Amino acid sequence: MGDLLKGKVAIVTGSGRGVGRGEALALAAEGAKVVVNDLGGETEGGGASKRPADEVVAEIKKKGGQAVANYDSVADFKAAGRIIQTALDSFGRLDILVNNAGILRDNPIWDMTEEDFDIVVAVHLKGTFNTCHHAVKVMKAQGRGRIINTASNQWRNPEGHVNYSGAKGGIVSLTWGLAWELQNTPITCNAIAPFADTRMHESSAPRREELVKAGLMRGERFDQVQDRPAPEFVAPMVVYLASDNAAKITGQIFRCGAGKVAVYSHPSEIKGIYKNFKRDGAWTQDELKDLVPGSLMAGVRPWWG
Ligand code: NAI
Repeated sequence: MGDLLKGKVAIVTGSGRGVGRGEALALAAEGAKVVVNDLGGETEGGGASKRPADEVVAEIKKKGGQAVANYDSVADFKAAGRIIQTALDSFGRLDILVNNAGILRDNPIWDMTEEDFDIVVAVHLKGTFNTCHHAVKVMKAQGRGRIINTASNQWRNPEGHVNYSGAKGGIVSLTWGLAWELQNTPITCNAIAPFADTRMHESSAPRREELVKAGLMRGERFDQVQDRPAPEFVAPMVVYLASDNAAKITGQIFRCGAGKVAVYSHPSEIKGIYKNFKRDGAWTQDELKDLVPGSLMAGVRPWWG
């Protein structure tokens, strides 16, 4: 075992399986005491089981680490408070919060129910707000904190499932907003967009097959997305961001998995058209009809091509 995170206490939500499990094990391997939170539900959000969290706790303990299970849902504001309280009751402090829990309800928007939308946003975006809200109060009082949220590359290259990509885009904006609010504190807030072979990833293969059939995804892209490495390749960057080595890194979104760690740029306006609105008033439709295609949108394409 390493000691990079010795004395630190971490929570990893949804860490009974997949990416979160890899993160919990890696944090514990560097000496952190870990709250393994997992509702133990299905990929689509139904059901509950204590087994996934219990198994990861047992695995950490077997390797000589310290861990405790929590089975609350991040989507419930009060329950999220209990997740944070579990860290305080079990280990006396909270240094690291990794928001990782997630589900999928993949459908094109015309077949997506209101429930499909609400539950995905509730677990990903609202769940991230819930735990951050409770955790930041503790971290501010302690004078230290690391928050690592989980976005997805689907935030900027969304291939359908607007509930998921919308929620992940919300997590990116929440991460930027929270980092900005915390800029004068010793608390950092970043996000990762992981890629790994997990239950969730495998469950979305039929959706990708449908996209290929519908001509919305190229065969090479399908093959590229299908072939993902194990989740433990995501964890090293999360451990780094949780450590004192990353004290000055905040408000950033990282892509990580396999042998890759990349940082995304912050989107900005790329060009504009301007008029003296105080003197000449608002744009007219005749002006826009000429200037939008001829100037503003010249060379600008949708992200897929
Ligand atoms: P997974 O399905 O293997 O694990 C997710 C875990 O979250 C499950 O153990 C589940 O029980 C738990 N969970 C679900 N709802 C919960 C709730 N309300 N409260 C507490 N726990 C809950 O999925 P995977 O692939 O490990 O995903 C982890 C995160 O990484 C998710 O946020 C996902 O969106 C994100 N991600 C994964 C990618 C991949 O390639 N696997 C790609 C991009 C993002």
